[in-house]
Amino acid sequence: MSVPTLLHFEEEQAFADALARAAGLQPMRVARHRFPDGEISLRLPTPLPARVVLLRSLYQPNEKLLELLLAGRAARLHGARHLTLVAPYLAYMRQDAEFHPGEVVSQRIVGRFLADLFDAVLTVDPHLHRVATLGEAVPCSHAIALSAAPALGAWVAGKRPHALLVGPDEESAQWVARAAAGQGLAHAVCRKTRHGDHAVDIELPAGLAVAGKAVVLLDDVASTGQTLARAAGLLLQAGAASVDVAVTHALFAGDALALIRQAGVGEVWSTDCIPHASNAVSLAGTLAEALRQLPAG
Ligand code: R5P
Repeated sequence: MSVPTLLHFEEEQAFADALARAAGLQPMRVARHRFPDGEISLRLPTPLPARVVLLRSLYQPNEKLLELLLAGRAARLHGARHLTLVAPYLAYMRQDAEFHPGEVVSQRIVGRFLADLFDAVLTVDPHLHRVATLGEAVPCSHAIALSAAPALGAWVAGKRPHALLVGPDEESAQWVARAAAGQGLAHAVCRKTRHGDHAVDIELPAGLAVAGKAVVLLDDVASTGQTLARAAGLLLQAGAASVDVAVTHALFAGDALALIRQAGVGEVWSTDCIPHASNAVSLAGTLAEALRQLPAG
């Protein structure tokens, strides 16, 4: 039986090599040409074995979704019978309801699009708020959501052994609790009200004692950085000795990092689900282990 192939794109070479080594896959790059008018042309390494894994972390997702359509359909034509998507960051999961009439529920539509292309989809800390499982959002045979919380918790405990872990909003409670429990750290969760893309209000938990403490804010995503900056400012005002940040997905749009630094944050740590200068924790091993556990066939 031939070794399953790990298809990847040029920008994800380092993660692909680590994942392929850990999962026993043969890494092969998809070549891409961009025409002067913006269209893209892909070329797969052929022939392909029956089992193919495609790596594509879906930050800056719009063009990558088209790449998945082209590469996924072509991989089937070239012999792939079982196709897995490893998307360390899964985009379009936040719009999970029609908040205003006519609003497109992109989670459902993008999820169905991926489920039609792939037999299995693996990701890390997808933003599932109003649905309980990844399978509801991405209805394919194996929809697997892994968490970076244990690895981030271990990293934080190594750097700040007595840290108080704080989640900036109710949705972060799941990750903060898990990261804290694995290391025996104290934790708490704030309340957040979002007024717009760049406007959030945060309330610290009533009676939370932070004076003199090394606080680490932990969240799934940092996008504009408003959530972390606002929470960090309040924690420092309340007397925290330091505030550092640990996130799974380092989107850091625009001047997000500068905003977070201006708020007084010290260290910023992230996983390599999205390549960024703050990457400190690798999830390649965790994803490789999950790939090994997928049923054959
Ligand atoms: C949303 O609830 C997420 O967990 C993050 O807190 C949010 O996406 C962060 O967004 P931003 O950095 O734009 O405040």
